[in-house]
Amino acid sequence: MVDKSSSVTVLDHPLAKAKLAKLRAKGSTTAEFRRRLQEISILLLAEASRSWTVEPATIETPMGSCASHALARPIALVPILRAGLGMLEGMSHIVPEATVGHIGLYRDETTLRPVKYYSRLPTNIAEAEVLLLDPMLATGYSACEAATVLKDAGARALRFICVVSCRPGIEQFHRLHPDVPIITAVIDPELNDVGYIVPGLGDAGDRYFAT
Ligand code: URA
Repeated sequence: MVDKSSSVTVLDHPLAKAKLAKLRAKGSTTAEFRRRLQEISILLLAEASRSWTVEPATIETPMGSCASHALARPIALVPILRAGLGMLEGMSHIVPEATVGHIGLYRDETTLRPVKYYSRLPTNIAEAEVLLLDPMLATGYSACEAATVLKDAGARALRFICVVSCRPGIEQFHRLHPDVPIITAVIDPELNDVGYIVPGLGDAGDRYFAT
């Protein structure tokens, strides 16, 4: 489903809905939370990669020659540390050939602004289909900062993938990066005054890493 802002796609899939319910549930164990986040990430990857270009390729099956396809561009996955690592783990099973970058940002709990402490990106970032990963699009500040880091490094085909988003985060992100599509599993109604999405799922990093 494409949201009224055409650069936001909400994943409209029964499996995603069912898995999201389990991901949100406060009674889920760490193992269940990890598994569900990885699974939803794979579904989001399928949606985010829908418009990637393919080029013709010929392969040999055991029965003969077959006109086939190969992805035209390399893939780069860039999780925002640390919760984005949970999305990377699932996606890596589907695109094991992807290069991986890391952007480390923590949130100053007073200003709610991101502070960058780490950035290491693949050398093919300019040619790659780049997916920026963070399960939560809350205030949008971290996603904005990370997208800026990627663009400064030369990324051109960039998409932001999250599981739970909210309007203020989407609006903030698109104020700074109107050219970067967002793919999300759901848009939640509220952002509370300490920057958490409501109903959301709590702190994604804490739940994934059991901290
Ligand atoms: N980060 C989280 O992990 N959860 C939120 O609700 C907001 C930011």
